[in-house]
Amino acid sequence: MRVRGWMLALAGLGAASAVAAQDLKSPSADQYVPRLGDIMSAAQTRHHKLWMAGKAQNWELAAYELRQLKANLVEAAVFYSGIPVGNVTTLEPSLQSMSDAIDAKDSRKFAKGLGELTEGCNACHRSLKRSFVVIKVPSDEKPFANQQFAPTTRP
Ligand code: HEC
Repeated sequence: MRVRGWMLALAGLGAASAVAAQDLKSPSADQYVPRLGDIMSAAQTRHHKLWMAGKAQNWELAAYELRQLKANLVEAAVFYSGIPVGNVTTLEPSLQSMSDAIDAKDSRKFAKGLGELTEGCNACHRSLKRSFVVIKVPSDEKPFANQQFAPTTRP
């Protein structure tokens, strides 16, 4: 599999310092390709936990969830070539900004970054005919509090 430069760039945004994947690899990891919806469900969980960790100013946990979320997005792009590269690269500024906010323990910058990231999630959903999957900044800790379930008026 050819690793594209932007993927490395994305992975480089802190993902490299995550627990080395091989340390946790299951025996069948080489064969198993998760379904895109499953990768996304994991991304949704991380997006939610990222927000909760930032809100609680647990920056170590926030950094961890951000790395996990980035890994999910990289996986989506690596395994599903139908996903336009641009839809992932446009997330880079908001991911970087969140990473900087976590380093600086800056709650305001963190919240702004999460808002932008969330808009990036939805932009991709809209462009891939999944506009009905609407992610939002979580309202609270309840499961799925980062998804809008009421239908939107968007075409
Ligand atoms: C590069 C494109 C892209 C980006 C970026 C993206 N998604 Fe998705 N997402 C998809 C596609 C395509 C689907 C539909 C998958 C399917 O039909 O199986 C999806 C589906 C989902 C679903 C529905 C999963 C389910 O089974 O209920 C959730 C939740 C989700 N995405 C969350 C997120 C979150 C949170 C982000 C941002 C952190 C995000 N997505 C960013 C492309 C993207």
